[in-house]
Amino acid sequence: MNEAYATRLIAPDTAGLAEAAALLRAGELVALPTETVYGLAGDARNDRAVARIFEAKGRPRFNPLIVHLPDIAQAHAFARFSPDAERLADAFWPGPLTLVLPLREDAGLSPLVTAGNDSVAIRVPAHPVAQGLLRAFGGPLAAPSANPSGKVSPTRAAHVLAGLGGRIAAVIDGGVCAVGLESSIVALDPTRLLRPGGLPAEAIEACLGAALAQGADPAKPLSPGQLASHYAPAAGLRLHAKAPHPGEVWIGFGPCPTAALNLSPTGDLVEAAANLFHALREADALAGPGGQIAVAPIPECGLGRAINDRLRRAAAPR
Ligand code: TXA
Ligand code: MG
Repeated sequence: MNEAYATRLIAPDTAGLAEAAALLRAGELVALPTETVYGLAGDARNDRAVARIFEAKGRPRFNPLIVHLPDIAQAHAFARFSPDAERLADAFWPGPLTLVLPLREDAGLSPLVTAGNDSVAIRVPAHPVAQGLLRAFGGPLAAPSANPSGKVSPTRAAHVLAGLGGRIAAVIDGGVCAVGLESSIVALDPTRLLRPGGLPAEAIEACLGAALAQGADPAKPLSPGQLASHYAPAAGLRLHAKAPHPGEVWIGFGPCPTAALNLSPTGDLVEAAANLFHALREADALAGPGGQIAVAPIPECGLGRAINDRLRRAAAPR
């Protein structure tokens, strides 16, 4: 593992974006804020840069990466869009939706990005700093969440530094991520939801005018974001906890006066999503080695589905 970097914290202004774009052109890695979570970006056409992403994260090679682009027009250079794909892109880009689409043969992406598949995951992020960096760089950026593999996704620059400091060239500090959950991932033809995320499944279904199948196409490899025990704090995790057991750190939702932390005291799922990973980290620190976290029940609707999906993975035996 390369720990040789003095990871720089870069301001999200014009000079900072130019500096970050120059690092990316040199094949270096830069963590950037998006509206969902911080991403660890590298030039998606540069094999070495992409390989360094896997190295820095300690991520298994077979996990394909999301390619980030500034707009729909540029996305067309990398993938083929069916009518449903066009409709979803028009409705939700830029925003917290990733589409898995057939890869164009002439796309010029490093095969490491797609893990050798003939499909590519594409996202057009809405965050102004992500947009600014994509335009300053002028090419496709491969960017998984900027956390060591198996750890919770970062929603602040400080989270990135805590997990990847010393392993990457720079972090652009864009403050707190507004959505706080990774993008929803939709594969097309047949249309199915590979990963619930920051865009509620109900909104996707309303746009398509049809129910979404859930889960992977059995003929294709599972999206590794769906693996059990993917988002794991060090402490044990008990879900649907209406009250804590002795010694547990209780994460509340709605009115929970004795909770150590609360995802949203008013029971707002958007606020809860934005706080989720931060709360898991804080609870993990409070619980200490061998400790136990309990989480209050979260309703299984809207963003609550994605929150519960993340919590179930975090609670999975490992
Ligand atoms: O919100 C997000 O999506 C964030 C920000 C940084 O954009 N990115 C993110 O990336 O969550 P990552 O790598 O942590 O998760 C991407 C998921 C993985 O589970 C990966 O396996 C899946 O997308 N994926 C990528 N390409 C795929 C493909 N061609 N087919 C199926 N799944 C794919
Ligand atoms: Mg991730």
